[in-house]
Amino acid sequence: MMQRRRVPRSYGFVLFFVAVHYAHGDLSYSVQEELKHGSVIGNIAKDLGLNLGRLSARKARVDMEGSDRQYCGINLRSGDLFVAERIDREEHCGEKPSCVLKFDLLLENPLELHRLSLQVQDINDNAPIFPKDVIKLEIRESADKGARYRINAAHDADIGQNSVQNYVLQQNSHFIFSFQTTNVGSKYGELVLDKELDREDQQEMKLLLTAVDGGSPQRSGTVVIHVVVLDANDNAPVFSEAVYTASLAENSPLKTPVVTVSASDADEGVNGEVTYEFSRISEKSRQLFSLDQDTGEISVTGDIDFEDGSKYEIVVEAKDGYGLSSEAKVIIDITDVNDNAPVIYLKSLTNPIPENVSPGTEVGIINVQDRDSENNRQVRCSIQQNVPFKLIPSIKNYYSLVSTGQLDREAVSDYNITISATDEGSPPLSSSKSVQLSVADINDNPPVFEEQSYSAYVSENNKPGSTLCSVSARDPDWRQNGTVIYSLLSGEVNGAPVSSYVSVNGDTGVIHAVRSFDYEQLRSFKVQVMARDNGSPPLSSNVTVSVFISDVNDNSPQILYPAPEGNSFMTELVPKAAHGGSLVSKVIAVDADSGQNAWLSYHIVKSTDPGLFSIGVHSGEIRTQRDISESDSMKQNLIVSVKDNGQPSLSATCSMYLLISDNLAEVPELKEMSNFENNSKLTSYLIIALVSVSTFFLTFIIIILGVKFCRRRKPRLLFDGAVAIPSAYLPPNYADVDGTGTLRSTYNYDAYLTTGSRTSDFKFVTSYNDNTLPADQTLRKSPSDFVDAFGDLDSSPEVGTYFTSLISNFGV
Ligand SMILES: *[C@@H]1O[C@H](CO)[C@@H](O)[C@H](O)[C@H]1NC(C)=O
Ligand SMILES: *[C@@H]1O[C@H](CO)[C@@H](O)[C@H](O)[C@H]1NC(C)=O
Ligand SMILES: *[C@@H]1O[C@H](CO)[C@@H](O)[C@H](O)[C@H]1NC(C)=O
Repeated sequence: MMQRRRVPRSYGFVLFFVAVHYAHGDLSYSVQEELKHGSVIGNIAKDLGLNLGRLSARKARVDMEGSDRQYCGINLRSGDLFVAERIDREEHCGEKPSCVLKFDLLLENPLELHRLSLQVQDINDNAPIFPKDVIKLEIRESADKGARYRINAAHDADIGQNSVQNYVLQQNSHFIFSFQTTNVGSKYGELVLDKELDREDQQEMKLLLTAVDGGSPQRSGTVVIHVVVLDANDNAPVFSEAVYTASLAENSPLKTPVVTVSASDADEGVNGEVTYEFSRISEKSRQLFSLDQDTGEISVTGDIDFEDGSKYEIVVEAKDGYGLSSEAKVIIDITDVNDNAPVIYLKSLTNPIPENVSPGTEVGIINVQDRDSENNRQVRCSIQQNVPFKLIPSIKNYYSLVSTGQLDREAVSDYNITISATDEGSPPLSSSKSVQLSVADINDNPPVFEEQSYSAYVSENNKPGSTLCSVSARDPDWRQNGTVIYSLLSGEVNGAPVSSYVSVNGDTGVIHAVRSFDYEQLRSFKVQVMARDNGSPPLSSNVTVSVFISDVNDNSPQILYPAPEGNSFMTELVPKAAHGGSLVSKVIAVDADSGQNAWLSYHIVKSTDPGLFSIGVHSGEIRTQRDISESDSMKQNLIVSVKDNGQPSLSATCSMYLLISDNLAEVPELKEMSNFENNSKLTSYLIIALVSVSTFFLTFIIIILGVKFCRRRKPRLLFDGAVAIPSAYLPPNYADVDGTGTLRSTYNYDAYLTTGSRTSDFKFVTSYNDNTLPADQTLRKSPSDFVDAFGDLDSSPEVGTYFTSLISNFGV
């Protein structure tokens, strides 16, 4: 029900006021008092032209100015403004002709304020009430016709038509009732004597006076006028003033005198004794003020609060001893004292706020109210300096709390914002309110490794699963945004996936070896480890972990020349004329380890003649220590041990056979062969070679025949002996030999050795002597293997020995 209906002329300015402000977006509604909860007053959404859906998003709310009572509410679904609490017009406005309650209609985001005035309309909810139940009048029988006796009017809290409209006096033979209005506007009635009294005829009479209001339904109140007929009392008391005004500061202490009324009565004796009492006084005033019935002094008996009531009107009656009375009005104005501190209301707060809000974001809305008046209610509001927030004054007493800078939860996660409000009274009053504001996390920090890069050192032959090292990254974000998970980035080491070398524990960052490492194959490698947080999207960082494998002395020295002990029949020729210090032979050994573990030293552990030969500790060179003499034994035997420098050290030994002779013929076992030779060594060597080759050839033919024979029965085996060689393993030129039956001797010789040693080991022999063997090459078969094969076929091992020795000497 918008304010549309016709209003009495005296309300015209209100209507004008409403019209002007409505044009500026303010709302005005009219509502009857005492409506029950939920009664609809009007539709806000429609009147503001707001979309219904936006209403709840903008948190529409109605607050009463200066009060925290909720008289009205908004139905956010329908936009209806409804009655939320009983509204009693008399409570708010008393006798005021117009009763307007003011509300703030608040919309957030953006903050918007509309003024809402509610015109409360009176209903006839109060009946007229007389101040007393019985009015006692003592009237002299001599009173003239037309004499008037004042009767205090009935009071009706309602206004206008709903207030007292008429009085009806019970039918009687002596009095009529007349209704009067004084020039200060108060109303009273008079009992007018219509026919003279006769005390002897009737000593007293009781008349019922009924006051009726103009409401619908009509309400009424009654009083009994008790008339006692007696003798003379001419004058009623007369107040010195018709209206007394006084001003009283609020919070005045009890018993503070406010004003003294005084009335005088011209009569004497009892007829002139004046007493005072309140004639018409509101319940509230009665609790605040008392009237001394003898002195007429009004004093304070309750807490005077300007905010509760700023003006009191009391009607005081003065009465003489026989009941003649008169009335005066007392108006008490209460003056304001700055006794109310401002009150800060937090109307809205976004909590927590994400740390990435841009500066200038509105975080909350604050309203400040002060119940005092004028300067005492002017309020200034501020917050402390050291927070990235500020208050921006908005409409009326509203402020927006706005962020001023970038927030960082990792630096400050909670703010304690203290809002202080100070009024401009004297002395000023202030209050403050603390607002807790939390900052919510955003995944804005990647994990950061504690070190730029990591190195792990591990000895070879480690156990699979052993711990290499551990990486650690920190992420200051909150919960899952700061939970770090480690993983290996895919990559390759030596062509194999990196995951086959190491693994990382996702939770702890501990890096384990997956396999046992071999220093001889891999000395170091790098892996990339990623630390990722659990945010969405996740952030990550990478780090390089270098793994260094250190050598362990796990390879014993390998003697390349001569062949290791037990199989060796190598014999070196030492010329008889050799002088002390001449180089006789050299032990050659390698070690697959590195550093100290591969640093070899050579020692002679046993020899036939301990003083004759020495060995270079690191060169392995065997030299004569002195000149050879005739008395020295022809056959010299040395056992050489080769040790590496590891901890503990590993060693290998070999035997070396030396023959002190200028001439092969002097070798006892070769005497028969020496018959062929004559002068020069070379010739004899050539003859020996020729004989050997021929012998080999013959042996070879025998072998071929033997093989052919064996194949018929055991087609897959080359030899009938202990060494089994699959025929497929034979080189192709072996078949060639088989096919033609004839073979050049050199070819035959080469092919035989190749077959006999199964690999190309023979080639190594020369390589060893050249000292060009690469460190990483593995010796799979010792050169003595072919001697083995030889020995199997030929019953005389010396021929083989001699031959090998021959080859090695030519090779050097
Ligand atoms: C915030 O301020 C209030 C009032 O000063 C204080 O009681 C409270 O302990 C403070 N809280 C924090 C987290 O600093
Ligand atoms: C993590 O960060 C995201 C945004 O990056 C945020 O939405 C989420 O709430 C955060 N999680 C926690 C537990 O704070
Ligand atoms: C880490 O490495 C992965 C794979 O190479 C890459 O996708 C990622 O962007 C890297 N992260 C950083 C922080 O460099």
